[in-house]
Amino acid sequence: MFITFEGIDGSGKTTQALKLKSWLEEQGHEVLYTFEPGGCELCKGIRELLLSNSIKDDIARLILFLGDRKLHVESVIEPALKSGKIVICDRYNDSSIAYQSAAGLDYKFVREFVKSFNFIEPDITFMFDIKAEDALRRLEGRGRDKDAVESSGVKFLSCVREIYKDIAACESRIILIDADKSELEIADLIRDYIKNLN
Ligand code: TYD
Repeated sequence: MFITFEGIDGSGKTTQALKLKSWLEEQGHEVLYTFEPGGCELCKGIRELLLSNSIKDDIARLILFLGDRKLHVESVIEPALKSGKIVICDRYNDSSIAYQSAAGLDYKFVREFVKSFNFIEPDITFMFDIKAEDALRRLEGRGRDKDAVESSGVKFLSCVREIYKDIAACESRIILIDADKSELEIADLIRDYIKNLN
């Protein structure tokens, strides 16, 4: 099974992805948790480049995110799935569509371009929905340094959120999660969805 987690920065998706990993392991499954960008050896340099904000060109950034994904899918995700593991990936195609469109590229162009790579489709995607203001407040509370993307602020993240919701409306694999709910409630909800898949 291939599961992805999506949402704006500070939406709480990573906490829940790791909780799900632990729970699935308790059920006896072998699970790989991974993330993008930077989820493979070669991808680490691409991640550094992308998060340093030294590249401003939106097309160049999109291509780098997709290059990162190509290497990650081929060297990490597909081998793990073939060996029978459940793979949980923190960000995937939907991040590229939402973030790179919000950055200014045409939504339809980005969506078609991303789809043209035919990367393996997730079986299920948990998409964390939260107001940009609340997500940024959470990040500040964590004392986290704002990276290049987060520092673009409320307006940008609100736009990412809206595009995420558009994607969710077209894709049945996506479960939209109200990220305002408590950590415990969200974890239960996710487990219920997974149980019902079997
Ligand atoms: P990261 O620190 O990993 O964020 P998070 O912990 O919220 O997942 O930074 C990744 C950033 O890169 C994040 O702000 C979203 C952005 N991103 C894109 O713009 N396009 C993409 O295709 C991906 C995978 C991430």
